[in-house]
Amino acid sequence: MRKVNLELGASSYEMHIGSGLLAKTGHWLKKHGFVGKLVIITNPTLKKRYGEGLKQTLDRDGFQVITLLVPEGEEQKSLETAGRLYHKLTDCHAERTTPILALGGGVIGDLAGFVAASYMRGVPLIQMPTTLLAQVDSSIGGKVAVDHGQLKNKIGAFYQPQLVIADINTLKTLPAAEIANGLAEVIKSAAIRNKKFFAFLEENIEQIKTRDNEALEEVVFQTAKIKVEVVAQDERDFGLRSILNYGHTIGHAIEAVSDFKIEHGGAVALGMLAAARISKKMGFLDKGAATRLKALIQKASLPTKMPKLNQKKLIQTMQHDKKVRQDKLRFVLLREIGDAFITDEVSPSLVAEVLANEET
Ligand SMILES: NC(=O)c1ccc[n+]([C@@H]2O[C@H](COP(=O)([O-])OP(=O)(O)OC[C@H]3O[C@@H](n4cnc5c(N)ncnc54)[C@H](O)[C@@H]3O)[C@@H](O)[C@H]2O)c1
Ligand SMILES: [Zn+2]
Repeated sequence: MRKVNLELGASSYEMHIGSGLLAKTGHWLKKHGFVGKLVIITNPTLKKRYGEGLKQTLDRDGFQVITLLVPEGEEQKSLETAGRLYHKLTDCHAERTTPILALGGGVIGDLAGFVAASYMRGVPLIQMPTTLLAQVDSSIGGKVAVDHGQLKNKIGAFYQPQLVIADINTLKTLPAAEIANGLAEVIKSAAIRNKKFFAFLEENIEQIKTRDNEALEEVVFQTAKIKVEVVAQDERDFGLRSILNYGHTIGHAIEAVSDFKIEHGGAVALGMLAAARISKKMGFLDKGAATRLKALIQKASLPTKMPKLNQKKLIQTMQHDKKVRQDKLRFVLLREIGDAFITDEVSPSLVAEVLANEET
């Protein structure tokens, strides 16, 4: 098992990464001083796969376990579902000291985290991420939220969990497409902060895709460490934290303009490649580095070719994104693999040029 510490003063916490960790949950909860009642929030599929086993071990450890179910899907990240969960928490007499265990991917993590942050002005939260994306990204850093109308992830809070338990065994049942989705964030993290880890990914991509334990543990550990280091320096997202948005300015526009037919991971992959071309055009990045990035993205089963989308709409969407400053766009660019920086100096015409010509 590997451990990553998120140092945030009074709200510091640990992340545990390894195989077979779900069974140790009770032990760690007791160490944190929890006794009695606890609530697991998960979805019906994950309940069958992992929730029932988790409940059994927690029962044996003397906890009184209540499981609350949320149906599948991003649309459950809503105030309505949060409202239903508040009712259920009240019905089962959950108190201010009753911990909520969020067992699932980013949807469950964000929703259960939002509920934990707001029920009784905040109850203890334990993140138990079961997707690669959740283990390397959404369970770390304390952003919890629901969607509301056009506002995606915009009704929320910064609310740190007390513990994150990432059991990499759960990734064995994850569909290949979801592994690819998470790998987009993994590759992003290596590209912005850690050249050596990028080389590890190049060498081990097949082992990762076939879910080799050692490779997965290293991937989750290294990527989590990168996010933790960035968040520890900028918890509230005023500066450095936005380097985690590499590939996301164009990525978010691709998702929106494609009506979310292109998934987040694929959109971020295309966004990273376009941002690498911008970095190259502006004289920061050499061609070899951009070629390596493209090759790794391709090996990770992520798209490398821009679909046909309305260019004007893409640029307009980027200009409406929060990362905009007057007529220039805010971008994360690369100086080399492992070294990113933020600039407000990217012109919309250069973005249009690299989107139109993938050979640039
Ligand atoms: N809070 C943050 O900082 C942050 C960061 C990135 C993304 N997010 C949010 O995360 C969400 C996406 O998360 P996601 O990609 O994990 O998607 P998800 O939670 O929808 O999970 C994807 C699918 O995999 C299934 N699944 C989960 N674990 C499984 C397992 N072990 N085996 C088999 N199937 C499993 C889920 O039931 C679901 O159908 C979005 O809502 C996004 O906004 C939040
Ligand atoms: Zn992302």
